[in-house]
Amino acid sequence: MDQMIGELRQQFKHELKDVKDSSGVEQLKVRFLGKKGPIQGLMTQLRDVPGDKRPVIGKQINDLKLELEALCHEALSGYQQAELAQQIAGEKIDISLPGRRQFQGKAHPLSQFLQEIIDILHGMGFSVQYGPDIDTDWYNFEGLNFPPDHPAREMQDTFYIDAERLLRTHTSNTQLRVMEKTTPPIRIIAPGTVYRNENISARSHVFFHQVEGLYVDRNVTLADLFSTMEEFYTKLLRRKIISRFRPSFFPFTEPSVEIDIQCSQCGGKGCRICKNSGWLEVCGAGMVHPEVLRNGGIDPEVYSGFAWGMGVERPAMLRYDVNDIRLFSENDLRFLNQF
Ligand code: DAH
Repeated sequence: MDQMIGELRQQFKHELKDVKDSSGVEQLKVRFLGKKGPIQGLMTQLRDVPGDKRPVIGKQINDLKLELEALCHEALSGYQQAELAQQIAGEKIDISLPGRRQFQGKAHPLSQFLQEIIDILHGMGFSVQYGPDIDTDWYNFEGLNFPPDHPAREMQDTFYIDAERLLRTHTSNTQLRVMEKTTPPIRIIAPGTVYRNENISARSHVFFHQVEGLYVDRNVTLADLFSTMEEFYTKLLRRKIISRFRPSFFPFTEPSVEIDIQCSQCGGKGCRICKNSGWLEVCGAGMVHPEVLRNGGIDPEVYSGFAWGMGVERPAMLRYDVNDIRLFSENDLRFLNQF
């Protein structure tokens, strides 16, 4: 028995040397220490050992069993650690690879600026109305008191679709539509795109944006127009502005004015931005012509009103320091991503 135990130990150690991985250790363990293995065999043979020697031999077998288990455990954990390290090295995640970024859209700079204009005027009591981009001659010209031979109607300015329909040349086309369906007081603004057949350059384009304003009620005066415009531009430009109102002419207003704001760049001295005049033209305006009120179904003996039409691109170019109007419509992300 003694000898068998010794040989078994030697044999196990010998075989363990040839084992190269954890599954080899597991197999060896099952083979030596399993139910059908030699250790169990020794246990069975222990029955035949004379009673007085049985405790000593039994202890030897048990010691061998514990020793082999410990050796297995030791070899196993060694291999497992190495194997795990190898597996991790093989599965390495390349964390330097950039993640997939979700493209996030945002409002166009002109839309952002227009929204600011709308928010200010909304806060001053004006609600928003939209007129059509394609309209009839009546709403764009005739109903607004444009004489039949007015130069603005000429082919070089207006994009005609057919004899009757055109692309609106100004947001003033919304005025009559609103008057027709509203009884005063009317306090609306009409933002939108307008179209003109002009040469494209750094300062003008064939389409741009305007915000029309219309205020009709009893006893509306020119002073109301002035104070409304001053308050609006003070809020938009975020500073106390200096403005002036120059007499002008529009067929649909009487009297008509053009509103200038003193150039902030040069403080009125004259510079490149204000073309050396010291003033920036920001808006056309005036008291709604009685004929236009009548065309809109409003009695000019009872009501009066003021209206204005302002461009969006020019003040936006000033605000954002953009020197070419074409940048707004070229969809160049290098430009757009700056806003
Ligand atoms: N529609 C004019 C234009 O495009 C601007 C304008 C001037 C609008 C006077 C108005 C106004 O409502 O009263 O040049």
